[in-house]
Amino acid sequence: MKASTSIASFVLLLILISTNCFYSEAQRCRPSGRIIGKKPPPGECNQENDSDCCVQGKAYATFKCSPPVASQTKAQLTLNSFEKNGDGGGPSECDNKYHSDDTPVVALSTGWFNNRSRCLHNITISANGKSVVAMVVDECDSTMGCDEEHDYQPPCPNNIVDASQAVWKALGVPHNQWGGLEITWSDA
Ligand SMILES: *[C@@H]1O[C@H](CO)[C@@H](O)[C@H](O)[C@H]1NC(C)=O
Ligand SMILES: *[C@@H]1O[C@H](CO)[C@@H](O)[C@H](O)[C@H]1NC(C)=O
Ligand SMILES: *[C@@H]1O[C@H](CO)[C@@H](O)[C@H](O)[C@H]1NC(C)=O
Repeated sequence: MKASTSIASFVLLLILISTNCFYSEAQRCRPSGRIIGKKPPPGECNQENDSDCCVQGKAYATFKCSPPVASQTKAQLTLNSFEKNGDGGGPSECDNKYHSDDTPVVALSTGWFNNRSRCLHNITISANGKSVVAMVVDECDSTMGCDEEHDYQPPCPNNIVDASQAVWKALGVPHNQWGGLEITWSDA
């Protein structure tokens, strides 16, 4: 083989490898770190509405990214209260207000919350052949957890749409099944 040909094919190989790495890097969202669970002090971590509490010594992955947003982005729908004294802790990050659980509002995992860029914007959530428009008011923090600020709950997974009761109602999910459902969402 001529030297110039082998150099050319080597360069081509390098280009192929680097674009391939870049491509998978953009597609994949890897953990940014991990947190070791601490036992909630007595009275912390309100479990009234099935909130998860950190387990002493358990490792939880943290994420700064979420899967790429598509026209129908797959997500896990969870249940949250956005009311004062609800299980969401403080007021919503986007407007520093509490929201009635009778209004369709959601919190998104950190990557999708995207540094507040979806704050007070609406998303369409679909499941069971039904859909509902809900407003993004808060972040489900994928980067931190297991501390007082997060009520000793683990960091949020990176694919969560955490929704008020109104969203679950609108999707026609029977009450005894509220809490975990695979849905798709898109920007409204
Ligand atoms: C649990 O949910 C009920 C309604 O389903 C709500 O009234 C109550 O405030 C919630 N409790 C907490 C701690 O979030
Ligand atoms: C998030 O937004 C704030 C205010 O607009 C900006 O200062 C900050 O650099 C942004 N952070 C990231 C990670 O984009
Ligand atoms: C989102 O929907 C609410 C309720 O329909 C509406 O008041 C609000 O203006 C919408 N937000 C945006 C950014 O379109």
